[in-house]
Amino acid sequence: MDKATDSSGLIFRQDYFADDKAWAALVSLLADTFGIDLDPLKRLGGADPSSMPFGWFDESGLLAANLSAFAMPIVISGRKVNAAGLQSGAVRPPWRGRGLYRDVTHKALDWCAVEGFEAIVLYTDKPDLYTPYGFRSLPMHLYAGAAPEPAMGAMPARTLDPWKPEDLALLQRALKSRTPVSDALAVCESAAMFLINTQFDPDVKLSWLEDRQAVIAWKVGDDNTFVLSDIIASTIPTLETILGGLGIAPLAVEVLFSPDKLGWQGEARALDGGTEFMIRTDLDISLERPAMLSPMADF
Ligand SMILES: CC(C)(COP(=O)(O)OP(=O)(O)OC[C@H]1O[C@@H](n2cnc3c(N)ncnc32)[C@H](O)[C@@H]1OP(=O)(O)O)[C@@H](O)C(=O)NCCC(=O)NCCS
Repeated sequence: MDKATDSSGLIFRQDYFADDKAWAALVSLLADTFGIDLDPLKRLGGADPSSMPFGWFDESGLLAANLSAFAMPIVISGRKVNAAGLQSGAVRPPWRGRGLYRDVTHKALDWCAVEGFEAIVLYTDKPDLYTPYGFRSLPMHLYAGAAPEPAMGAMPARTLDPWKPEDLALLQRALKSRTPVSDALAVCESAAMFLINTQFDPDVKLSWLEDRQAVIAWKVGDDNTFVLSDIIASTIPTLETILGGLGIAPLAVEVLFSPDKLGWQGEARALDGGTEFMIRTDLDISLERPAMLSPMADF
């Protein structure tokens, strides 16, 4: 028997992003629940156009409960998968325990079924919320190892600032024509996620390698380790080319995706960040080598 939902005093709305007040209510829900500010996304090209939010609002316009779905094509073990992502799942404390999250989860899963997605993916620190719906966790691994010698003769990189209109336009063009950064596990495009993620880690730099037509998202981590977060390009440059273009010669490297296109091999290390990447699919899919989704694709 279906469990009851207590939605008294609330109004259900879906696909509400075109309404500025409703968008602001989502920004407020995510700020209050997770301490993140999604609002800059509006000035960075807007939310993913495929977004389909499901929300319960009170009469004043406050968003009490929400879950959003969006198209997120990914490559897993060399196979392109027409996947949807689920994000922005939250219920405000006064409305918890009434079945509202179960309700928006059912609505989001039904929408994904009607749209014909082959898989649904999400990140969560509460996997038990999703296992009853057939989601399973995929283990995530970064790669670490010694740095290669930087290639000689590369054109020096230029730093990009997404808040400069010409740099934002360059990033958007590159995102449209990018190739997945890895064949093991990677997003195919996910432009909106990349752009908002540039705002969440102030240490991540974006560098443009003109001669490679490649955007490199990177930072310097502990012990001067070079941390490579993502590459937006239609041909992925090798790690030595990237280091040459950036003009740096680190001793150690961490790559936050599977480095199968980088001409470099590191050692896979399990991520234990408390957040799990989960998938629900009828396809026979598994990770054939250790991998993780770039943090620039976090959603
Ligand atoms: C997690 C959260 C969305 C649950 O909201 P809620 O209103 O209590 O959820 P519901 O009343 O609709 O309960 C839905 C189901 O989830 C279960 N559930 C609730 N909280 C849970 C938790 N922390 N862990 C595992 N299961 C949980 C309920 O028992 C219920 O199970 P049932 O369908 O078998 O009866 C809410 O506590 C919240 O917003 N937390 C902070 C943000 C967060 O963690 N969001 C999810 C991120 S992926």
